[in-house]
Amino acid sequence: MKLIIGSDHGAVDLKEEVKRVLKEEFAEVEVEDVGTFGTESVDYPDIAEKVCTPVANGEADRGIVLCGTGIGMSMMANKVKGIRASLVSDLFSAEMTRAHNNANVLCMGARIISEYMAWEFTKVWLSTEYLGGKYAKRVEAMMNYEKNR
Ligand code: RB5
Repeated sequence: MKLIIGSDHGAVDLKEEVKRVLKEEFAEVEVEDVGTFGTESVDYPDIAEKVCTPVANGEADRGIVLCGTGIGMSMMANKVKGIRASLVSDLFSAEMTRAHNNANVLCMGARIISEYMAWEFTKVWLSTEYLGGKYAKRVEAMMNYEKNR
């Protein structure tokens, strides 16, 4: 699996923590960090685009985007065709958004959740399989809506 991760200046430290957990617990996952790498202010839409475009094109399998609240990143991510991004602040949603919604991008807010929560959400999100079946009809409906407009 290839995963692309990015954050704005509001979540650089959290990005490093998430990367550390990925390296320790998901060594088989190839992780690419598209920035930002410092505290200088950057615009979250640019970073979300850098993460989501390769995921939507099939050059990567998953994406993780982080900003202060996770809101701006999730809004932008969902504007990229082919992306199903979820802003997650609890463990149950981290699991369900894979199992039921087949989310391909995880969004989290560094000013909302703790590092520990981000680690746990990331782990659950990466290890939960999409269930398909009755959930597939709804996911397909979303994607068809996007494709036809
Ligand atoms: C940046 O200050 C902040 O607006 C951003 O990190 C994010 O919270 C936007 O949704």
